[in-house]
Amino acid sequence: MPPLSKLQGKNVIITGASVGIGEEMAYICAKHGANIVIASRRTKLLEKVASECKIISPNQRIKIVTCDLKHEEGCEYLLNSSVNYFNEINNKKPEIDMLILNHAMSLFEHMDFNNPALMIEKLRDIMMANLIGFATLSHLAIPHMISKKGEEFKSIIVLSSIISMISLGMSWAYSTSKAAVNSYFVSLNEELEYQGLQNQIKITLCYLGSINTITMRNNTDKYFPKWLIDHVVVNAEETAKIILQSGLNGQKELWYPSYGVLFRYAYGIFPGIMRKLGFLIQKHLMTN
Ligand SMILES: NC(=O)c1ccc[n+]([C@@H]2O[C@H](COP(=O)([O-])OP(=O)(O)OC[C@H]3O[C@@H](n4cnc5c(N)ncnc54)[C@H](OP(=O)(O)O)[C@@H]3O)[C@@H](O)[C@H]2O)c1
Repeated sequence: MPPLSKLQGKNVIITGASVGIGEEMAYICAKHGANIVIASRRTKLLEKVASECKIISPNQRIKIVTCDLKHEEGCEYLLNSSVNYFNEINNKKPEIDMLILNHAMSLFEHMDFNNPALMIEKLRDIMMANLIGFATLSHLAIPHMISKKGEEFKSIIVLSSIISMISLGMSWAYSTSKAAVNSYFVSLNEELEYQGLQNQIKITLCYLGSINTITMRNNTDKYFPKWLIDHVVVNAEETAKIILQSGLNGQKELWYPSYGVLFRYAYGIFPGIMRKLGFLIQKHLMTN
């Protein structure tokens, strides 16, 4: 893995940086001297993260952008503000070095067949933020990421989940969005190759397991026993480091923690058994 010191002087955009893994990535980028733009819907939390970054690194160059990435205008606003900011602070090198697509709306509840309009509204919101938001930002960013000959490649880091591969009923909308994210970014990678841009822009698709963030704990603590969670869940700061290193490395995939790969192959080889197992786990959760 390349050292994180390679972040020094890079222009980095992190979406969903008000809490969780995105917040941890902001602190690591600050520690290693990157110029950062952090985005989410909650200004107060972003201001807190920005102040913490300045404590970590007093000369930190950081901009906060409050936006809702469920809407195209929010994505455009983030991209334009970031490019203007990088131009302002570093006009010899205004381009985007790293785009971290991290924000996500999540949902962990069963479908309500008596309320179809509400179900579709929830699905639409999640698809707009998680899939269309990621796709829009990548399209807007690519023209600012095409490096000149001899320059280092630029990275797009995409946060996905093992739940995209092993959908549970309860995670229906979230799993659907992440499965579509995988498919979209695999296609985008192919497209970069067809267009001869594969050495200039590298996409790192991160398939994460259970990472210790407030959202994950809110979704799981009420269903799973504490001893199990303590054994399965991994630290968000460590995860943030590994994600950034994988992006700097230009690797195509990251499975973290690595047990995710086991699920992937088990689902590939024994789909029926694995689905049945998922079903029984959910049934147990519903009745306890
Ligand atoms: N934690 C896990 O166990 C786990 C597992 C697999 C995959 N992942 C993936 O890893 C990424 C980070 O996970 P996390 O647990 O750190 O997430 P998190 O704590 O829930 O944080 C999500 C971030 O996204 C922002 N966000 C949500 N909707 C938004 C919108 N419409 N527009 C702009 N920002 C929005 C939130 O900020 P605001 O509310 O301020 O907007 C927040 O900063 C996500 O993509 C998630 O799907 C996480």
